[in-house]
Formats: sequence, C-alpha cells, structure tokens
Amino acid sequence: MIRGIKGVKDILPDEVGRWQLVETAARRLAEVYGFREIRVPIFETTELFARSIGASTDIVEKEMYTFQDRDGSSLTLRPEATAGAVRAYIEHNLSASPTSQKLYYFGPMFRHERPQAGRLRQFHQFGVESFGCAEPAADIEVISLLWRFFSMLGLPDLTLEINSLGEAGDRPAYKEVLLEFLKKHEEKLCQNCRRRMATNPLRVLDCKVPECRAATEHAPKLTDHLSAAARGHFDAVLAGLQSLAIPFTLNPRLVRGLDYYTLTTFEITTTHLGAQNAVGAGGRYDGLVETLGGPKTPAVGFAVGLERTVLALPSTAVQTPSKLVYVASFGLQGQPAGQRVLYDLRAIGIQANTDNRVSSLKSHLKQADRLGASLTVIIGDDEAAKDLVVIRDMTTKEQVELPLSSVANSLRTRLNTA
Ligand code: HAM
Repeated sequence: MIRGIKGVKDILPDEVGRWQLVETAARRLAEVYGFREIRVPIFETTELFARSIGASTDIVEKEMYTFQDRDGSSLTLRPEATAGAVRAYIEHNLSASPTSQKLYYFGPMFRHERPQAGRLRQFHQFGVESFGCAEPAADIEVISLLWRFFSMLGLPDLTLEINSLGEAGDRPAYKEVLLEFLKKHEEKLCQNCRRRMATNPLRVLDCKVPECRAATEHAPKLTDHLSAAARGHFDAVLAGLQSLAIPFTLNPRLVRGLDYYTLTTFEITTTHLGAQNAVGAGGRYDGLVETLGGPKTPAVGFAVGLERTVLALPSTAVQTPSKLVYVASFGLQGQPAGQRVLYDLRAIGIQANTDNRVSSLKSHLKQADRLGASLTVIIGDDEAAKDLVVIRDMTTKEQVELPLSSVANSLRTRLNTA
C-alpha cells in the first residue's frame, strides 16, 4: 500500500464540515472588510522567498521544498503567501489603482518542519494583505479583522500579543545593544542561538529553549529603542485597539520568523492547542514591495493557520440542524417515482439523497438515520399508484401523507420554517 507523506494530511469528509465553516466565515468577513480575493501560484522561483522571507531565517535555511525545474532553474513550493502576493502586486502594477489594494487568499503552504499536533508540512492558511496605507489605521483594520474572525468562531481563551520592531533604520543601533547583552550571556545560550547571534540576533529573543528564554529575560527591548515616528505609530495602533475594546498584551519578544517585518508585529494564540498555539500572526512590512523591485509601498497583513483554527473550534460551532431529505423508494413504480422526487427536490436546492443500492423500506430507513436525514420521503408501488408519498420525521417518527405533485414545495416550506 502506498501511504501519504509524513506531515501531509488528508482532510476526510467527516472533517470537511468544520473546514467549510471556517472558510466560509473567513471569506465573508474578508469581503465585509472590503478585501478582494487573489489566487497566487503554489510554486515560485526560490529567489522570491529567499529575498523576501530572508536568507538567514529557519524557513529559508531549512524548511523550504526546493527543486530544480527541467531547465535547471530553482523553484520552491510556497512556505507562505505574502511573497507571492507582493510579486503579483508588482508584476500586475496593482499600485497604479487609485484605490488601495486589500487582498485575501486561501491555500496550502509547505514547510519541512518536524510534524506534531498542529504542525504540518503541508498546511493551509487564510491570509490578508493590505497595500498602500502607512497609517496606523491599516494595522488596526487588519488586526481587528483577525480578532473578530477568531472571536466569532468562538475560539477559547484568545490572547493577542503585539510588538513593534521599529523602522528598518531603528534596527542596526538596537542590534548592537542586543549583541552586547547576548555576548555577556553567550554561554547560557543554545547552539542555534549562538549561531543566530552572528546571522540574525533578533531571532534569539524568539527561541523556545527554556535556558535561552531565562538568559534573555532582561535583554534590552526593541520598543525602548524606537525612533519617535515608530513610537508614535505603535502608540496609535495600541490606542486604536483600545478604542475598539480589543484586549492585547505587549510582547517585546515577538520578533517573528520572517525578516520582512517593520513596525507592528502581532500574533493570536489560543489555549487547548499545546505547543503549537499560534492560530494567526502577521505584521507590517513597509520595505518588502521595494525590496522586490516595486514602488515604495507600505503594507500590512496576517495569515491564519487553518488546521489549528479547525482544531480549536468548539464543537458547538458546527452543530447545525440537518436539512437533509432522504428519499426511500422501492418497487417497480415506486423506484422511478422516487427518482423524480429526488430530481425535483434537488432542482429547488433542497439537500436530498438516497442509497441506490438499497431496495427495502427497512434498509432505507437505516441509511437515512446513518446519513443524519431530518425527513424521509417514502414512496413504494402503493404510494406511486395513488400519486402519494409518505413523509417521515426522522426525530419524532411521525408520518404524514402528501400528494406526489406537491412534495417539493411542501418540503421547502417545512425545512425553511424548521
Ligand atoms: P507565519 O507566522 O509563518 O506567518 O504563519 C502564520 C500562521 O500559519 C501561524 O500562526 C500558524 O497558525 C500557521 N502555520 C505556520 N506554520 C505552520 C505549520 N507548519 N503547520 C500548521 N500551521 C502553520 C506568515 O506566514 C506570514 N506570511 C503572515 C503575514 C501575512 N504577515 C504579513 N502578511
């Protein structure tokens, strides 16, 4: 037997209801907020990700699925979609539009990480990217969308953590202060962090190793080294969140695993997910469009991990009453009459099903129960001869007769008022 790949999961029909609920909510909310869908490719040139996410990040250093195309060029399965969205924004000259471009997307992403609950090698994101607005209002809009999304799905115990990484110009001076501190505590840091000191010292703050966390507890904070403009931006974002009554926690360690961020970074976590508890995260990336060859364009966005969202979804969120009608038909006249009823019900959008392998009433009713039908239309030869059907309520077991010609309309009324 050929098995699926480690860390790459099938989403089976029994789980799909939860996914559809989350995806529908995401799409609706994004549209309500004025975002429009963009669909970008699943693979891009490797250089796009190296230049945007950063050559010395974990993602680019060790997690990308990179392969050589037949012409020798290097391609990579996207580890995230911000880079692709920015490339598309530049390539299709979306900056020329007089309205600001607010885009959203769904789709699979690929990272060669160690698989565990909530961490996969193929996972799915819903994300938004808002281009062209440098104002704190854009940060607030995006964060409020993210917060509302998880709140309306009823995810338990949400925490919004927020930080500012300052403008690109604030970083070098802070890096020096941080490095000075790290050098003094180097012997307490893990191998990985010692290496990061040379390549990407900010990432040391994000290390999950308890010894590293303890050693950096009193590390200088980037938020104490912000320029006046960056400080003003951050304060305005925080004030905006306060005025919307969105609670947040300041986390000076929130440096994020991607290098393109400037100013605001944020992450939402929920309990009940174990170690992989970040359900969504993002931030501002004012330099990325220019880095990739486009015009100077401020931007801010986030991505939600859909596997984690589905995992954390309370079971009550998915319990919608069944509107399924099962058609139980049998006999030489009953069977074709049943086919006709199914055809008519489906034509007016009623969810209707049968099991064509089954030919006795008893087996039909068993299947109707298994499929979770709310009503069953029973039609055998006797009913067909009298132009009748029997409607059985699957919960109360009550049965009533109806003329065959009015089944579709009567059921529509009955289901809509249920
Ligand atoms: P990220 O923090 O790398 O950001 O990913 C966002 C979310 O994707 C995470 O919070 C998590 O829920 C989910 N996620 C990440 N890796 C995995 C994995 N291996 N398995 C399951 N879920 C995962 C980004 O991707 C940025 N592009 C977000 C962004 C958009 N920033 C600005 N715009």
